Amino acid sequence: MPMCGIVGYVGAGSPSDRPQGVVMGGLERLEYRGYDSAGIAIVTPDETRLAVAKKAGKLVNLAKEIAERPLPVGTAAIGHTRWATHGSPTDANAHPHLAAGGRIAIIHNGIIENYAALRDELRGKGVEFVSETDTEVAGHLLADEVDSGKPLAEAMRAVARRLEGAFTLLAVDAREPHVVVGTRRNSPLVVGLGENENFLGSDVVAFIEHTRTALELGQDEVVEITPEAVVVTDLDGSPVERAPYEVTWDASAAQKGGFDTFMEKEIHEGPTAVADTLRGRMDANGRLQLDEGIVAPEVLATIDKIIVIACGTASYAGLVAKYAIEHWCRIPVEVEYSHEFRYRDPVVGPRTLVVAISQSGETMDTIMAMRHAQQQGAPVVAIVNVQGSTIAREADAVLYTRAGPEIAVASTKALLAQITAAYLLGIYLADLRGNKFPDEIAALLRELDAMPAKVQLVLDTSEPVRELARELADTKIVLFLGRHVGYPVALEGALKLKELAYIHAEGFAAGELKHGPIALVEEGVPIIIVLPSPRGRESLHAKVVSNIQEVRARGARTIVIAEEGDEQAAQYASHVFYVPEAPTLMMPLLTAVPMHVFAHELATVQGRDVDQPRNLAKSVTVE
Ligand code: G6P
Repeated sequence: MPMCGIVGYVGAGSPSDRPQGVVMGGLERLEYRGYDSAGIAIVTPDETRLAVAKKAGKLVNLAKEIAERPLPVGTAAIGHTRWATHGSPTDANAHPHLAAGGRIAIIHNGIIENYAALRDELRGKGVEFVSETDTEVAGHLLADEVDSGKPLAEAMRAVARRLEGAFTLLAVDAREPHVVVGTRRNSPLVVGLGENENFLGSDVVAFIEHTRTALELGQDEVVEITPEAVVVTDLDGSPVERAPYEVTWDASAAQKGGFDTFMEKEIHEGPTAVADTLRGRMDANGRLQLDEGIVAPEVLATIDKIIVIACGTASYAGLVAKYAIEHWCRIPVEVEYSHEFRYRDPVVGPRTLVVAISQSGETMDTIMAMRHAQQQGAPVVAIVNVQGSTIAREADAVLYTRAGPEIAVASTKALLAQITAAYLLGIYLADLRGNKFPDEIAALLRELDAMPAKVQLVLDTSEPVRELARELADTKIVLFLGRHVGYPVALEGALKLKELAYIHAEGFAAGELKHGPIALVEEGVPIIIVLPSPRGRESLHAKVVSNIQEVRARGARTIVIAEEGDEQAAQYASHVFYVPEAPTLMMPLLTAVPMHVFAHELATVQGRDVDQPRNLAKSVTVE
């Protein structure tokens, strides 16, 4: 019952090792989606059986297995990398799953909700199950349909009609050596169009090194790829026209580009992510251009509340944006974890603008929350990084963050791009609703435009942050404090350290310190404090300076992130890291960067797998 990454390939000509090469390469790129097991099925000239290899654990285990016991050449292949939900991460539960005596192989991303009933039905017919997965049910159903004389694509349509829940399924049949079929509902599937070969993937990164021409499969559609053709139908078999599009970034964007980890590379792409997200957004009248869909200006002019729904790091982008949007637009903004929002009977209606923020666009909690809001009549604007993802498709309008592919599980550059996009939305609303004069709007946009160069400066001067992280490699606890927009940055710093280095890290609103967290402070405890600018609201700076003194008096090691020129910071800090001057609301784009650098370095010296921390997945496509 996995979520997982999926790749499929079919090529013309005689059997070769290309199917294996393409699929293994694709799996490497998709491993961010899960790494509990991996497997591959190759369609060989033998029409009775497929060649299959699968292994629990990361993709390297599968690669080793194949090196020891090489797979034969073939005409097509499918491959899978798994993030286990139900069914432990064993070899037996690894995909592909076989049916029809090894002639059919199937892989799956999602959850088949009615699988128990279907399994009982199949057992009644004498089918024996060899895994604990729901996927196997789909395989046996498919075998039944094929045995009744249907070609694979038609059989897949029949199976998809019987399934409930979320799924992307790919299948191959040894008797149709030049065909791979796929279908999807509530899980992603993208088709890559090549020359005399075609591809399928959960995400375009699966095949981007081979083709940049892609098309998305819609909800409840079935695709059949052969070397020469891609045929899309609905579940009744009626043809569906899907227009291909060109992916704007290339394969090198999905490589490490000289860095040791994807995360390090992605941290360094922060300035570009912000710049690209800002680029060309305003039309001739200075109005924001949404990328897809529309929420009518008349609707936006009359909304009386904004609710941001998101999870993890994306929710911190929402929290930052709350401070800015309330200040600029005078509209109340609530920020809520998608999973909490969905189940608390929230007060949402046509005059509530819901903003869904998600890097992947596939976070199931956020998808469900968004659907709930839409059912209440609320317009939804999505801030999403992955083009064509579920959230992007289902939202009323989309503002894409143009951060490029983010492979490391822990989100970094996407956070900066999300803050930037949310700010653009806020500035647009302020303009539309007349909260700001055109010159004020222009000034805000200029401030944003200046940020990429400043983020770059933070990166260029980040070596001392890394040094400190190395020094603190043995620490068991780190606390983070921030106030105003520095508060979400403190939360982000703590989250990153937890997920990468597995050490106890907590972020607090600095004002809350005296109401409890100060009891945690003892000799030598490192506390990272985001200090507001002394040029901003004076009292805010002074209050956080007092907090620094309070924890220092109790023996804490105070590590302060301050604005260039803030003399006071150095007086009370064990360490100060300066970021360039910027307006208060723009500061998180700078202060989040040392948080990312710090966590990355600390986890690296501890020998952690920074790109793929334990127990986590990049896209959490289950609730
Ligand atoms: C997972 C990732 C986080 C991410 C969160 C939200 O938990 O590990 O890095 O912030 O999902 O993901 P999304 O794709 O919706 O931004």
